[in-house]
Amino acid sequence: MPGNREQGTIVSDVNADNDVLRVVGGKPLSGQIKVRGAKNFVSKAMVAALLAPGTSVLKNVPEIRDVRVVSDLLRLHGVNVNFDDAKGIITIDASHVDLADVADVDTLAGSSRIPILFSGPLVHRLGEAFIPSLGGCRIGDRPIDFHLETLRRLGATVDKEHADGIHITAPNGLHGAKIHLPYPSVGATEQTLLAAVLADGKTELSGAAIEPEIMDLICVLQKMGAIISVDVDRTIRIEGVEKLKGYEHTALTDRIEAASWASAALATRGDIFVKGATQPEMMTFLNVFRKIGGEFEVRDDGIRFWHPGGDLKPVAIETDVHPGFMTDWQQPLVVALTQANGLSIVHETVYENRFGFTKPLVQMGATIQLYRECLGSLPCRFQQRNFEHSAVIFGPTPLTGQDIDVPDLRGGFSHLIAALAASGPSTVHGISLIDRGYADFRGKLRALGAEIE
Ligand code: EPZ
Repeated sequence: MPGNREQGTIVSDVNADNDVLRVVGGKPLSGQIKVRGAKNFVSKAMVAALLAPGTSVLKNVPEIRDVRVVSDLLRLHGVNVNFDDAKGIITIDASHVDLADVADVDTLAGSSRIPILFSGPLVHRLGEAFIPSLGGCRIGDRPIDFHLETLRRLGATVDKEHADGIHITAPNGLHGAKIHLPYPSVGATEQTLLAAVLADGKTELSGAAIEPEIMDLICVLQKMGAIISVDVDRTIRIEGVEKLKGYEHTALTDRIEAASWASAALATRGDIFVKGATQPEMMTFLNVFRKIGGEFEVRDDGIRFWHPGGDLKPVAIETDVHPGFMTDWQQPLVVALTQANGLSIVHETVYENRFGFTKPLVQMGATIQLYRECLGSLPCRFQQRNFEHSAVIFGPTPLTGQDIDVPDLRGGFSHLIAALAASGPSTVHGISLIDRGYADFRGKLRALGAEIE
């Protein structure tokens, strides 16, 4: 990939050639790859830069499509963005902010859910914001009711009557408020943080999400001049300040990408050193990895994951908000569980519709049965709601190569892992979707010895 990418709107860089990957599976993946900053932090930190009329510098930024989309969204608002992708450094000068053209924002935002987080910063800078219809992976309804209620409580007027999206205004500015989230939503917590830091007075957010990516966003905001405290009971308190300044920050590592490569090592009976992976954010994953029979070694500069030989063991897991087992870890790990000896149970409690990706796995030879019941220790929000949100996986079952269509980001990477673990060739269509969140995954696969074309 070339360095300094300063100009130009990249709405889509997908063509037929880079959208299909032919994989000949059956070989263990082995070697070293490097993982940079977390997609689900970097995009939010880039939005935070909008809050300050100055320059912010973010390091350890991955070369992924979501970063390019957010860069282009910022540019549409008159912000100067320079991404040195070779070094992984993004410089954002938000001295000047404009209202963007509604149609341009709509075209760009098609692939992302980030535009909703522009609301608070734009309202502070310009008194108004426009939110187009949102994209993102189709893994459930993904409503934004918590976001809009938060903005209303902080004093914004939310107008949903426009055909082209939602208009948010606050001519008199935002003010502090008491807000409670019915569920610890990552996005709604970030929404509150980004909107309340410059609001007049104090905001108390109870029922907040406390994912490591949110803590890193709080670190960024604190560097910018914000006053934010986090209590043990998921309450976040924000004292509004009058102005913020630019920041310099190194993004925390992408724990979802790291766990994806760890799962690939297990599923292909391989051995992968994930440079950059860090233990504290992955503790829950590492416990499960060990219970299945995977080996890992935490080093100063990363974590080595490997299959020690012999049988893998089945597990029962439930996805949850942090510090629970992440929903985004579930999909790649399910592929590894198809190779465990016995019955594994996965209860998905974050998204109601995140098991669609198992159908191609079944076509490849996996035995996976989906259930509407909560197959976990506690009933979740999806109990009695007709969603197939529990899975029973029986293994080990040999997988054979197939034609596969990538459904969403994490499901797609899981299909790729399955294709690499399978005997014979697979053709994976829609592969460019994976570029949204996995930097240079084709290069990394080659470095690990995968036979891909
Ligand atoms: C973030 O999504 C991540 N995306 C997701 O990663 C991740 O799976 C998720 O958090 C949970 O960790 C980004 O950071 C860009 P939520 P977000 O608000 O913020 C419900 C990936 O592949 N909800 O925590 O959109 C919602 O439907 C992606 O990298 C409401 O009901 O997730 C879901 O059931 C996929 N109303 C639950 O809360 C709302 O207003 C959690 O969603 C908001 C959310």
